[in-house]
Amino acid sequence: MNKLIVLLLFTIVCYSQTASQLGDFKYEDFETPQYCGTSCHTDFYQQWKQAMMSQAYTHHWDEIEYFKLAVPHAEKDKNVEEVKAGCNGCHSPIAYLAGDVPPPLPSANSRANESVSCDVCHTITGFAGDTPYNFNYIMKPGKVKNSTRKGEIQSPAHEIVKNEFLGTGDFCGICHNEKSPYGAWVKSTHLEWKEGPYYEQGVQCQDCHMTKGEMKSASMGATYKDTKLHLFHGAHDDWKVKGTIEVRIHPDIREVEPGEVVKLTAALFNQKTGHKFPTGSVEDRIVWLHVEAKDSNGKIYHLPVDKKGFDGEEYTIAADVLAYQDMGIALDDPNFKGVQRDAVPVGDRIFRKPYFDPQGRMTIQQWNTKSFGVDYRIGPKETKLETFTFNLPFDIAEGKVEVTAAVYYQKLITSVGEFLEVPKDEMETIKVGEHKTEFTVFY
Ligand code: HEC
Ligand code: HEC
Ligand code: HEC
Ligand code: HEC
Repeated sequence: MNKLIVLLLFTIVCYSQTASQLGDFKYEDFETPQYCGTSCHTDFYQQWKQAMMSQAYTHHWDEIEYFKLAVPHAEKDKNVEEVKAGCNGCHSPIAYLAGDVPPPLPSANSRANESVSCDVCHTITGFAGDTPYNFNYIMKPGKVKNSTRKGEIQSPAHEIVKNEFLGTGDFCGICHNEKSPYGAWVKSTHLEWKEGPYYEQGVQCQDCHMTKGEMKSASMGATYKDTKLHLFHGAHDDWKVKGTIEVRIHPDIREVEPGEVVKLTAALFNQKTGHKFPTGSVEDRIVWLHVEAKDSNGKIYHLPVDKKGFDGEEYTIAADVLAYQDMGIALDDPNFKGVQRDAVPVGDRIFRKPYFDPQGRMTIQQWNTKSFGVDYRIGPKETKLETFTFNLPFDIAEGKVEVTAAVYYQKLITSVGEFLEVPKDEMETIKVGEHKTEFTVFY
């Protein structure tokens, strides 16, 4: 008898822990964002419209990467066939749940375009297993919407159930952690946060990406002091990225003669992110430090970073080499030579984690990633130090030498973006931080 009850409980637990699967629902099981946002949640709707959440399926680079690389690759290579459906488990959950694989192109204006919609997030009740990743959400579409606040006023459109889970970083981890078909953690924003100082202090993802302000959460509802704004501002928001790294540089000596050596030290402090920088689509992103000196005649000297000597360091110093040959699989060009690996000034320090394909070549295809190189990104509240040795030439002009250290960021490596014809805004260079110092040359 007892055994039966245990068995029964076990079955219930197992059942309730199963993630929602491909084909479990229909598009019609979900409300459209227009329905939620036109007359009631007007502000949230407009905020969401401006965030990448509403464009996760339609955005140009997403469309190009999915249709030009991932789908053809999945059709040719059994090892990665799951991504043909799986990409949209996060980018267009309702298309995935409706079993629409691949969904129509964004230009067809189908419901797949709703991307990560209101009803996706608000019908998630939890996740299956111990770690949130790879869209292991448990979704219960219908009249009941999950929220961290029950509210004083009942909605005429739906019921609200209080679910504290939505207020935690684990909720975000469902889509912000990703394991490749080869078992590599190719997206780990949530895991990085969990290992870092913010999680320990109880700071959630929501505290920085859904900040609290005094406003109504619905046009006919009450005003709360801590209404959670639906900003989701991230890498596609220049002013979110700017200032992430505070860079400061100083020389070891202020007065020098030509032929002498000046050693410059740059300190890079990550003052803003709750995870590493860069995070998320780390395979596409590039952060680098450029240092140059200008003598009193205006002559510019580019200073390459000093090598530290750690394993795999060669991937963290910009070089004139080719990479990303595995794009050739999808593009039917098995002998594809690749494009420039970094496309930033040779000798600059790069803060990155290289992704390697099963053949050990660097890749931007996170689904084709089997291993990683050294993780040389900047952790939350971490300070990285870099040095530069400047052997002053004998003909350097007398007077002040101004040294500038600048940290730059690109969402997508230029060479890759140009090769795949991705619109320019995705490769735009953003200056994250800058600092200047000086020393004097005298004869
Ligand atoms: C990516 C997931 C996600 C999307 C998309 C999303 N929400 Fe939310 N929403 C949340 C989370 C998480 C919370 C609770 C945050 C917290 O408590 O820290 C929330 C809170 C709310 C609240 C309660 C706010 C409060 O302070 O009481 C309302 C209402 C709401 N969302 C409506 C919407 C509407 C309408 C849309 C579409 C325009 C939408 N949400 C899209 C995740 C999402
Ligand atoms: C159902 C999946 C899903 C959930 C849950 C989810 N996200 Fe996202 N999120 C995405 C996808 C997909 C994108 C990528 C959009 C793109 O660029 O294609 C994204 C984009 C973002 C961005 C913008 C990044 C940029 O490049 O500008 C931020 C910030 C973000 N999410 C934060 C959060 C936070 C915070 C939570 C939890 C409250 C959360 N997300 C929950 C799927 C999700
Ligand atoms: C202390 C504040 C803070 C916390 C906590 C935080 N973030 Fe961020 N996040 C930022 C800042 C600042 C940026 C912009 C710089 C960047 O792109 O990394 C950012 C960027 C992002 C991006 C865009 C990254 C990219 O390259 O496209 C995503 C996605 C994101 N955060 C998701 C999350 C998730 C999910 C969590 C929780 C697991 C979280 N963030 C916690 C501050 C924070
Ligand atoms: C586990 C959820 C998940 C899966 C599966 C997933 N993605 Fe994403 N994807 C995200 C999130 C979250 C972001 C945003 C991260 C960031 O801002 O850096 C993102 C970002 C991207 C971006 C960068 C968007 C930009 O504008 O910079 C592209 C392109 C992309 N994904 C394509 C794909 C493709 C193609 C697949 C399938 C091979 C895929 N994704 C699978 C969650 C996922």
